[in-house]
Amino acid sequence: MENTTSLQGRVALVTGAGQERGIGAAAAEHLARAGASVVVSDLVPTGAGGEEAQAGLEATVARVRAAGGRATEVALDVTDTAQIEAAVEAAVSTFGGLDVLVNNAGTGIGVGEFTEVTDDRWELSWLINVMGPMRLSRAALPHLEKQGGSIVNVASTAGVAAEAGYGAYTVTKHAAVGLTRLLAAELGPRGIRVNAVAPGMIHTDLGAAELELVAASTGATIEDATRSVVESIPVRRLGTPDDVATAITWLAQPGSYVSGAVVPVTGAMVAGLN
Ligand SMILES: NC(=O)c1ccc[n+]([C@@H]2O[C@H](COP(=O)([O-])OP(=O)(O)OC[C@H]3O[C@@H](n4cnc5c(N)ncnc54)[C@H](O)[C@@H]3O)[C@@H](O)[C@H]2O)c1
Repeated sequence: MENTTSLQGRVALVTGAGQERGIGAAAAEHLARAGASVVVSDLVPTGAGGEEAQAGLEATVARVRAAGGRATEVALDVTDTAQIEAAVEAAVSTFGGLDVLVNNAGTGIGVGEFTEVTDDRWELSWLINVMGPMRLSRAALPHLEKQGGSIVNVASTAGVAAEAGYGAYTVTKHAAVGLTRLLAAELGPRGIRVNAVAPGMIHTDLGAAELELVAASTGATIEDATRSVVESIPVRRLGTPDDVATAITWLAQPGSYVSGAVVPVTGAMVAGLN
């Protein structure tokens, strides 16, 4: 019987994977542990922050290799179509194909009160959270269909429910869920499955920024805000990048019948209700 949890002989590309405690780096490691060769990518700005970003990418590659996996890194700004083409090409030229696309890169720059989020922030949120996954999916398509590949989009609970104050983040994550469902319907006949994960409160840099926001809006300290968020989560803890990476890797398994799903990774937190 085929081992359907194995990604042996498969190639994965993960976006936004250069942050040490991010979901992308954990996903790269988990996919590699399952047997995939991984192209680790992230935004590497020219100028300020560039060296640090490059070092972050190299650290993820080292982490994958330390876990016994194969990886290479590529600079990829998901708003740049030339870099998207180059990243897909890097997967094909380095590892011989591309079977799993994990659209993890995302921005919370559009979080805020509706009347306060500027057009620039709306537009950048749209470019990163929606156009990035759309363009990457389109560029990867000819390769994904070769041996029954899949796409996993990292959406959010903000993609399935609305909570006041989450602005363009909510709207663009809803669009990422819509993209997931559209592509699942349209690409299924071509042998490609498309799913999303909807993480809740995950302990990453972005998650920490969200806790700061909760603290600021309630006048509580970070510690108190974290405590009250944890108390509102039925499993009584924040999620970890590994929690999300486990779900991503499960969705990526070849031969699965799961497609068009939006899998909550929330500890049963219900977005918008707590
Ligand atoms: N942490 C949470 O609580 C949480 C909850 C729900 C959803 N998410 C989603 O999970 C994903 C990963 O977030 P994270 O929590 O690991 O935070 P993170 O900040 O560590 O990761 C975001 C990544 O996206 C990258 N990125 C931003 N703009 C980019 C661009 N233009 N091109 C390429 N990469 C770009 C960043 O460099 C970073 O590596 C995001 O899509 C986020 O919206 C996170």
